[in-house]
Amino acid sequence: MTDECGDGLKLVRLPEAGFPDEHVLNHLRKNFYADEPLNRAVGLCNRGEAHAELDRHCASTLAHNCSCIIVDQKQSKIAGAALNGIVRKGDREECERRLAELKDSKFRSIFGLLYSIDEKVDLFERYNVDELFECRILSVQETYRGRGLANVLVENSIRIAQQAGFKVMKADATGIFSQKVFRKYGFDVVTEIPYSEVDENLRPGPPHEALKLMVKVLDQDASRTE
Ligand SMILES: CC(C)(COP(=O)(O)OP(=O)(O)OC[C@H]1O[C@@H](n2cnc3c(N)ncnc32)[C@H](O)[C@@H]1OP(=O)(O)O)[C@@H](O)C(=O)NCCC(=O)NCCS
Repeated sequence: MTDECGDGLKLVRLPEAGFPDEHVLNHLRKNFYADEPLNRAVGLCNRGEAHAELDRHCASTLAHNCSCIIVDQKQSKIAGAALNGIVRKGDREECERRLAELKDSKFRSIFGLLYSIDEKVDLFERYNVDELFECRILSVQETYRGRGLANVLVENSIRIAQQAGFKVMKADATGIFSQKVFRKYGFDVVTEIPYSEVDENLRPGPPHEALKLMVKVLDQDASRTE
């Protein structure tokens, strides 16, 4: 599925021939891996570097086939990406078990924090669902930031979730700008962990204030009328 979104930018629903996972991973290594507030706080990796565990996390999310990217057709490059995945009951507990076995302490501390916020509220019970649609990675290349691309990626991810019949969409939003976008599209903050309460080695600096678990209950009627 492709859509024009102006300025030579095209929205592409993955998977799509011509946009292999490796291209998406390269975009993320140059942007998200270095710039996401928690990655940056711990100095997870240098810009452009691969990171075995994060690569695995992103590739397994891409395998759910519900992600999208924005491509700059003039420059033949990926300007932004939203990697979305499906979470089922028990998945987090299994991931936590595997996390404890990993050697990279920086990666462990980041995902330990993410799992700890997810543990605070049982979304399956609260919304009486067996599956959640999760926006896991939101990334825009530095030179394209502040032009509304994250808005386009979140709006399209909501559409993907609705079309697939999901009732609830969630995000563990770590930064103030992504939180702004999720708010704009009707996500509520279910719970949060202020960064002042987080170990200082993992604490993002201003303007980021808190890790927020944000949820949107999806309107299935909206997808049927599109
Ligand atoms: C977070 C991120 C995806 C936002 O992408 P973006 O395309 O620049 O976002 P948008 O242009 O759609 O802007 C989103 C909102 O944040 C604001 N914003 C974005 N960057 C800003 C900046 N540097 N300073 C002030 N406001 C900013 C925009 O004004 C917009 O608010 P508005 O809708 O009220 O105007 C991008 O900064 C990024 O990739 N960061 C690194 C990875 C990351 O942190 N991902 C999110 C983790 S949960």
